[in-house]
Amino acid sequence: MKSLLAQSVFAERRQRLMAQMKPHSIAIIPSAQLASRNRDVDYAFRQDSDFYYLTGFDEPDAVMVLIPGREEGEYVVFCQDRDPEMEIWHGYRAGPEGVKSEYGADQAHPNGLIDDEMPSLLDGCERIYYAIGCDEGLDAQVRGWLNAIRAHARQGAVPPTEMVMLDHLLHEMRLFKSEDEAGLMRQAGEISAQGHVRAMRACKPGMTEYQLEAEITHHFAVNRCRQAAYPSIVGGGNNACVLHYTENAEVLNDGDLVLIDAGCELDYYAGDITRTFPVNGTFSEEQKALYQLVLDTQEACIELVKPGTPWNEVHDLSVEIITRGLVELGLLKGDVEELVENGAYREFYMHRVGHWLGMDVHDVGDYKVDGTWRPLEPGMVMTVEPGIYVSPFNDKVEERWRGIGIRIEDDVLVTEAGHEVLTASVPKRVDEIEALMAD
Ligand code: GLY
Ligand code: MN
Ligand code: MN
Repeated sequence: MKSLLAQSVFAERRQRLMAQMKPHSIAIIPSAQLASRNRDVDYAFRQDSDFYYLTGFDEPDAVMVLIPGREEGEYVVFCQDRDPEMEIWHGYRAGPEGVKSEYGADQAHPNGLIDDEMPSLLDGCERIYYAIGCDEGLDAQVRGWLNAIRAHARQGAVPPTEMVMLDHLLHEMRLFKSEDEAGLMRQAGEISAQGHVRAMRACKPGMTEYQLEAEITHHFAVNRCRQAAYPSIVGGGNNACVLHYTENAEVLNDGDLVLIDAGCELDYYAGDITRTFPVNGTFSEEQKALYQLVLDTQEACIELVKPGTPWNEVHDLSVEIITRGLVELGLLKGDVEELVENGAYREFYMHRVGHWLGMDVHDVGDYKVDGTWRPLEPGMVMTVEPGIYVSPFNDKVEERWRGIGIRIEDDVLVTEAGHEVLTASVPKRVDEIEALMAD
């Protein structure tokens, strides 16, 4: 599917990356490969995020090469060749000509020629930007190209002397979202939010987790998002205490909560929302008490999201509020400061408060710079997703609390003025949820 972003966006990214590369260098970035699911059936193809970020090209078996300053062309692509027989079975291909005319490549070749062409492209470059270790097959090919140049040293061929991980430059670019990207993420947030609203409206005791999941994925799919950004988690009752529960196979029972963590992927940008609500539409006293604590925590943490706040402070605030709340409710006993210090809260809150969000749900970008937690800056997008999970086997707490799992997650863009919640249109207050479900 063609990107919603203009080709000029991808061209500008390539220019920006090339401007940061040292002179006499070359960058090599492979596409994703198809993966076999079972006989004759592949997993749904999903392009590699780095490759897509720079090309907007969504076919497998391709390699892009950037050579800043090269007279014959700076942007070279190796791709699947046109093949009428294969295209009848598997779909149309751009081919080298299409990659030039539609995707802006200066030069493009069938991927079968890569071993012939790469040694001469590498010859004379001093530095290779390449994410070694990510693609074993390509690592071996790169070694082969270097050896081919070395073999011609007496004829004047000069192999590169330095290999640099490309990830750092590229991922720092991806961490900061442009207006275009923020626009897509706003749409991804809204589609994800409306999927959750649909599920809340549809939920009733006796349904299964997979039926509720289908409500959400239906909404994603009819809005262009055929694949979710990650496998949806729909966990009723005790299943909400399993952080990565994706079986989604059980019946939703009257009196239980259900936790849904699901987000669409719109044109390679992820939404990531969690809501927890009562299967029958009304919170019990214990559910409401813990829910309100998670909500208060989440809202306070979102307020902290603004330029200048160090990344870890948002998490530290969540730990403090949750620990204090658990003491007040009697699930933890002792001095709040000490319980924070010795990590007692981890029995109930065992993950971080959030992560970068973008083309990957757990997006790229460093959290620390020079050993210190980095301050938030405009253009970054993060999730804020505190939770409390009381194991059904935790016999240190009163039975009435056991098996309650709650997480509330929203996607937050850091702006000059503070922040914008991209997923605000799905309710999270107790009265709002109960009203929506009663409707
Ligand atoms: N859905 C994965 C996460 O929330 O981190
Ligand atoms: Mn999530
Ligand atoms: Mn998340």
